[in-house]
Amino acid sequence: MKRELILTNDGSSTIRINDLNENYHSGHGAIQEAMHVFIQNGLGSISSSSDLPIRVFEMGLGTGLNALLSYQYAKENAIEIIYLGIEAYPVEKELYSKLNYIERIGVEYVDFFHWMHDLKWGVHERFDDHFSLEKIHQDLSKYNPELSIYDLVYYDAFGPRAQSEMWELNKLEKMFSLLKPNGKLITYCAQGQFKRNLKQIGFDVVALPGPPGKREMTVAIKL
Ligand SMILES: C[S@@+](CC[C@H](N)C(=O)[O-])C[C@H]1O[C@@H](n2cnc3c(N)ncnc32)[C@H](O)[C@@H]1O
Repeated sequence: MKRELILTNDGSSTIRINDLNENYHSGHGAIQEAMHVFIQNGLGSISSSSDLPIRVFEMGLGTGLNALLSYQYAKENAIEIIYLGIEAYPVEKELYSKLNYIERIGVEYVDFFHWMHDLKWGVHERFDDHFSLEKIHQDLSKYNPELSIYDLVYYDAFGPRAQSEMWELNKLEKMFSLLKPNGKLITYCAQGQFKRNLKQIGFDVVALPGPPGKREMTVAIKL
């Protein structure tokens, strides 16, 4: 499927797949959405109360925007994050090198951006005192994560309309099993059936205001 770069309303770029009629981020603002959903209501909500390092599992590494913003947060708040991102369909260099995230976030993050994208798949490496990363090139359904070690899941699959199987019980059970007790799954999605699935598995489900252009987002806590 052909992927192309587009600009979102906050001036940050994202990727669009026309065949799926789906963007990697909200058209209202890629950075704005990622900051609101994953950083402020995810990482920011646990960073002062969690033991360090914080372990993050990202479902759908994609452009690397969430990892980049997590690194920025870790550096600014002097914390350490161990990050694992799984991705079935890596973004080609030709495309990710045209993303304007460094322009928008700050040139001091350019080394991190290149390090992250150049890192070999399946190797866990440290960037600095604040961040280490492993990228897994695999379909989530074939990956067996370490159990009960993650503080946060950034669940950033395509939406239920484009990828309904990603929001069903078996995938969400996998997320439940890799979280620590009290760990949180964070997502932009607020679909009713998805939230009922989370509750059925045993998550405590909280609806929070969504980013601009979206009424709600979801936080699910592993009780
Ligand atoms: C909505 S995009 C978000 C990407 C990323 N978080 C970002 O900020 O750019 C969804 C991502 O999930 C990936 N993906 C979809 N299905 C997957 C699967 N079964 N296993 C692993 N990755 C998958 C896609 O290739 C895509 O990169």
